[in-house]
Formats: sequence, C-alpha cells, structure tokens
Amino acid sequence: MSIKVATRAHIPVLANETVEALAVQPGGRYVDCTLGAGGHAAAILEKSTPGGQLLGFDADPEAIKEAKTRLEAYKYSTLLLNENFVNLQAICLKYDFFPVHGILFDLGLSSLQLNSDERGFSFQHNSPLDMRFSPNQEVTAADIVNTYSETELAHIIRTYGEEGYHRRIARHIVQKRPIETTSQLARIIGQAVSIRRGRIHPATRTFQALRIAVNHELENLEVALKQAIELLGFEGRLVVISYHSLEDRIVKQFTRQRAREEQPRLRLINKKVIIPSEAEVQRNPRSRSAKLRAAERIITQSEQYMTTEKYSFSAAVEGTGWRRPALLQKLRRTFAAAI
Ligand SMILES: C[S@@+](CC[C@H](N)C(=O)[O-])C[C@H]1O[C@@H](n2cnc3c(N)ncnc32)[C@H](O)[C@@H]1O
Repeated sequence: MSIKVATRAHIPVLANETVEALAVQPGGRYVDCTLGAGGHAAAILEKSTPGGQLLGFDADPEAIKEAKTRLEAYKYSTLLLNENFVNLQAICLKYDFFPVHGILFDLGLSSLQLNSDERGFSFQHNSPLDMRFSPNQEVTAADIVNTYSETELAHIIRTYGEEGYHRRIARHIVQKRPIETTSQLARIIGQAVSIRRGRIHPATRTFQALRIAVNHELENLEVALKQAIELLGFEGRLVVISYHSLEDRIVKQFTRQRAREEQPRLRLINKKVIIPSEAEVQRNPRSRSAKLRAAERIITQSEQYMTTEKYSFSAAVEGTGWRRPALLQKLRRTFAAAI
C-alpha cells in the first residue's frame, strides 16, 4: 500500500536531514535548484519563517505548476521560476538574490515525471521517447536513439549507464531503427541482453544513460556547483542529494577539492554521505539510492580584508537583518565585489 502512494505523489527524500544540513534559520534566504513538487521547499520555508525567502528553479514547467500550488501559502516569500539551474548565477544576480544562506540540489527526476505516461522517462509506460525535462530543449531521446552512430550510442550507454553490454545494446538499437516508443526500446534492449540482473530490468541502465544525455545532467551539475559557491554567503550551506554514482562522484570531488585548497572555500559538514534510514526506504522506495552531501562556505584569508565586521549571515539575520536596507546594501556591495 505504502509503495503505491510513493509511486504516485513525489515524497521529498531525506527532508529532515536536508533542513538540518542547510542549517535553515528564520529570515534566511534559500535557493532550491530542483523544485519538483516543492516538498523540500515547503520544509525550508516552514523552518525559515518568519522572514524566510526562497528562490526556486525547475526546468520542467509542470513541476513549477505543481510547486506553485503546494507553496501557495508562501507566495509572498517565494519566487518560482521555470529555469534550468545551469543559469543559477545569472538569475540570482538578475533578481538581486544573493548572498544566500543555503542552496539545495535534489537531483534527477521526480515521481511526477517518472510516472507520467507521456514523458518517456520510464519503460513501465508506453510513450514516445522524449525524456526532456523541458519542452524547450531541442534534442529528445528519440533523436539520440535514431540518429547517433553505433559508437556514439555505445559510448553514452557505457559512460552514463555504466552498462557492461553497451556495445551489444548499441548494435541492436542501430539494427532495429527507427525506434519511436519506450516499450519498443525496452523490448530491443531485452533481446540484446537477455540476462536479468536480479530485479533490475535490462533496460534500466540504458534509459538512465539516455536521460542523462538528453538533459546534459552531469555537465549542468558541474557548472552549477561552481556558480553556487559564488552565491553562498559566509557560513552559507550547499546541500546536494544525488541518486547515482556519477552524480555523487562529481559532488564528492567538487566539495573535497574546495575544502582542500590552499585557501579553502568550503568546509565539509558530513565526511561520510548521509543516506535514508531503513524506515524511510520502506516508506519511499525511491529514496533507496539517495546520498546527501553538505558543505559550508567559509571565509578565505584573502576575503577577510573585505570587511572588518564578521561577514556572518547568522549575525545579519539576527535583529531582522535582511529587512534592514543599509545592512543589506552593504552586504550586497561587499558580495558583488567578491564575485
Ligand atoms: C528529484 S526532483 C526534486 C523533488 C523536490 N525536491 C521535491 O521535494 O518535490 C528533481 C527535479 O529537478 C528538476 N531538474 C533536474 N535537472 C534540472 C536542471 N538542470 N535545472 C532545473 N531543474 C532541473 C527536474 O525537472 C525535477 O523536477
């Protein structure tokens, strides 16, 4: 029964752990880069009341509609935009929404997308091979499957799907083209790889690979992480929840590298990844592969000269900080100089 509920609505993964890792505080300013159905955003807003503000992104217009409904009660403290987080920095600058106390990425796709019988993310539904997060993107999964060379397909399936049978699958795909639907593709992969790996369907990894390629997921994450660090105020927190090893590797390397530099800009909050409890996995099976990493923006030696006062966000918030125009202006000036 609980599984049925979980597959329909999107249940936020590691919600309490996320709010804690972001160190959400009343009056804080937060960016949710992956709004989805707005579950994490709601938890952040609840904890940052009074005075909290949230700027939310999702590339998927359907997600924005869903999140707007869910966050109706917070409409005066939220700005929810149908944007790709690869533009994180430009958008925060445009809306003068920096520095911020916390930035969240809850990567991958939502249950709304996975369960849709039109979007092509899952072979459980027969639908056109689309897989785009946004209808504005040009390239669909069908374009990749039907026009890429066998070598290119094998490369995508191996790199993004970590699929050992990449060559065999690519060969079968090329032989059976054109392929228009998810069911057709799943059947062809099933014929190429007749071995089942436990409960995992042979098409799972290829579908993941195509989705990552269609949405440039890994490239976008790398770009956005670099931007995020520029937007965080001192003591601001970066939290990333990832669902497969490739994403997690990027986050791990990025945060570790920034924490080990000669002038470190990040401090790791959790050296070991945070994973869901058994109870959460039972309640929400989608959470089983989740890994949460968190880091805090620290002030470097070269940044210390910029301000004589401790440029601390908790200090700014105390005493209704963000609502004091003079303090806000000063913080923005100092921050703009740092970017
Ligand atoms: C796992 S869901 C987020 C769920 C959300 N935290 C909640 O509690 O409902 C991931 C969302 O991120 C969005 N997304 C993925 N990559 C994106 C990108 N580069 N830019 C903007 N949104 C993105 C997807 O469209 C999807 O809605």
